[in-house]
Amino acid sequence: MKVMVIGGGGREAAICKKLRQSPRVTELFALPGNGGIADYATCVPIGVKEIEKQVAFALNEKIDYAVVAPDDPLALGAVDRLTEAGIPCFGPDQKAAQIEASKAFSKRLMQKYKIPTAKCEIFDDFQKALSYLETCPLPVVVKASGLALGKGVVIASTRAEAQNAVRAMMEEKVFGESGNCVVLEEFLTGPEVSVLCFTDGKTIVPMVSSMDHKRAHDGDTGPNTGGMGTIAPNPFYTDKIAKTCMDTIFLPTIRAMASEGRPFQGCLYFGLMLTPDGPKVIEYNCRFGDPETQVVLPLLQSDLFEVMLACTEGRLGQMRVEFSRSCACCVIAASGGYPARYEKHKAITLSENARAHADFAGVERTPDGTLYTSGGRVLGITATAPTLQEAIGQAYALCREVQFEGLFYRRDIGARALAGLEE
Ligand code: AMP
Ligand code: GLY
Repeated sequence: MKVMVIGGGGREAAICKKLRQSPRVTELFALPGNGGIADYATCVPIGVKEIEKQVAFALNEKIDYAVVAPDDPLALGAVDRLTEAGIPCFGPDQKAAQIEASKAFSKRLMQKYKIPTAKCEIFDDFQKALSYLETCPLPVVVKASGLALGKGVVIASTRAEAQNAVRAMMEEKVFGESGNCVVLEEFLTGPEVSVLCFTDGKTIVPMVSSMDHKRAHDGDTGPNTGGMGTIAPNPFYTDKIAKTCMDTIFLPTIRAMASEGRPFQGCLYFGLMLTPDGPKVIEYNCRFGDPETQVVLPLLQSDLFEVMLACTEGRLGQMRVEFSRSCACCVIAASGGYPARYEKHKAITLSENARAHADFAGVERTPDGTLYTSGGRVLGITATAPTLQEAIGQAYALCREVQFEGLFYRRDIGARALAGLEE
């Protein structure tokens, strides 16, 4: 089978690596891929939002199957267009992708179907949002309704901070159209868990749980980023909590989407908070998480291609999806300054062993094979081991075998999880 993966970050590197292990995948393309993904797939310089070019490439190359990984092409209807052109896809269509693309949509869905989530009010009128902020409980969480690269969330502990955030989103349009509508949400507390699930729209199969580390610096300080590291499984997510989530969140969500005429096929990501009142949804993503994928897929023992195809063809209920009982840790090596300004085009050197464990993200390759930095999150190093402690130790040992000017990474990925195991 000729398979193409749309995307070019660390998540897509992990997906390509896993698809390569499938005996059914004979040729693999990445659009656009990156200098590191080129180790696993033929990279084609077509951007993630260039839907028409993606379709033309797929038809020209007689691609048998497409995996649409990032949020932007999903929200733009890449799956709809590829499917119309006769190419089966893994990923939700445009209508189902709304579950991530519009927080106003997903919050209303949860309210309508009584899926546990933070209480909220939704505003598309600036003055009304301001007057709500005069009396609402604090802290209040301010969210741009549309896509904002994970940066459209402000936890405001004062009214002035909340007003500034709403003004920046609705009036100054710092996230463009994404801030036309804002969600003002109750502040929740508790450990966070990411659960990625395979679904064909009827059956939903959770993968191993994981924990992201979104802040840039140690001790969960500094600005929010796309994610600085992950561990799996998440020790706070017990079997009992998993059962509650299946009954009150996962199944109700796919049933709700089906009832709304938006059946969801692909990977549905649940960002959960384990609050004192039980697990609640913080966000949905209509795709694999980055860098969650980098720790979850190495633990998948089943053939990823077979599982994806079963989702597309509506026969996930007949598949066995198996995960190893090992643990995984991914540490992201970033460019100095990220998530704000950082320099690019620094030569990367790394040992063979580190390279074997790397998922490259912001990386370019020159014709002579040298790797250079080209983004904020440069690469992730993932190690798997029988215990979490060993996985963390091995990931950090490998990080020391990676060098580029300005390189930094958090030193405490998994530390809270280890503390949780001791509780
Ligand atoms: P989101 O982009 O919606 O996942 O939000 C980014 C981060 O903000 C989450 O991972 C949480 O750490 C935090 N957050 C979002 N919503 C809430 C909430 N209602 N209460 C507390 N923290 C939140
Ligand atoms: N790691 C969070 C995300 O992919 O949005």
